[in-house]
Amino acid sequence: MAVLAQPPAGRLLASQCAQCHGTNGQSVGGIDKLAGESTQEIYQELLEMKYTNKTNDIMHRQAKGYNESQLWLISQYYGSLSNVRGSTSTSQGQESTGKTADDDDKKD
Ligand code: HEC
Repeated sequence: MAVLAQPPAGRLLASQCAQCHGTNGQSVGGIDKLAGESTQEIYQELLEMKYTNKTNDIMHRQAKGYNESQLWLISQYYGSLSNVRGSTSTSQGQESTGKTADDDDKKD
């Protein structure tokens, strides 16, 4: 059998970032997209967040959970993703269409 391809370490470390930033860095729900930013940019921001104390800021808590080399691997992973790579068009202001037209709910 073939040798199993291992996902890059950065991708594994970044797995929990996907809750908010999307599985491929394409965030939904108005959170900053990480895909399309450079490794350096992301790394700088993560370091900044790691070493500043804004305890009411969710990202400051996220960044503190990793050491610098882990943050670098994560940054490399996101830096390797391109914003234009998606198969679907990346329309801005994409509205949720999760609404169901359930007439039963609609009676006044
Ligand atoms: C609970 C939700 C959540 C999780 C999990 C999360 N983030 Fe964020 N992140 C945010 C929000 C919200 C912002 C924008 C507001 C802010 O600055 O806090 C942000 C901002 C950022 C920014 C700066 C903005 C930008 O466009 O560059 C970076 C970099 C970032 N996140 C990386 C990560 C990485 C890497 C992880 C995983 C280690 C992660 N985030 C996990 C919610 C989250």
